[in-house]
Amino acid sequence: MEREKIENILVIHGPNLNLVGVREKKVYGTESYENINHRLLQQAERLGVRVEIFQSNHEGEIIDKIHAAFGNVDGIIINPGAYTHYSIAIRDAIKGVDMPAVEVHLSNVHAREEFRAKSVIAPVCKGQISGFGGDSYILGLYALAGR
Ligand code: DQA
Repeated sequence: MEREKIENILVIHGPNLNLVGVREKKVYGTESYENINHRLLQQAERLGVRVEIFQSNHEGEIIDKIHAAFGNVDGIIINPGAYTHYSIAIRDAIKGVDMPAVEVHLSNVHAREEFRAKSVIAPVCKGQISGFGGDSYILGLYALAGR
C-alpha cells in the first residue's frame, strides 16, 4: 500500500464520547476520555506527528471541523459515535475533503445490536478499527501515521 506523508492528524470524537469512563462502563470500559486523549498525544509525540483533538455532540459542528481540516490536516481519525450508523452528511464531508480517514470504535460494533454493525462512514475510510477500547484510537494512529 502506498503511504501518503502524514504529519498532522485530526482526531474527532463524536456524540457522547466525552462521557467515556463514566458511561456504560461494561460496554465502553473504564478508561476516561481524558486518559485516551493523553495516550493519543503521547503516541503522537513518539511517532513525530501532530494531533489535534476535537469532540462534539453536534453533527453540523463535526462537518464544519472536517471542512476546516481541508488543506490543514493530512488525515483524520474519527469515532462518529451513533452518527456512524446513519450520518450520510458526515460521510459526504469525509469524501468531500478527500483525505485518508480511519474509523475507530471503543466497542466491537459487530458484536452488539444489529443496527450497530452497519457503518455508513466506513466505506469512505481507509478502514475501521473496532473493539479495542481506548487502544482502537492508538491503533488508528498507527494505521494512519505508523511507519
Ligand atoms: C461507539 C459505538 C456506537 O454504536 C455508539 O453509538 C457510540 C460509541 C464506540 O466507540 O463503540 O456512541 O462509536
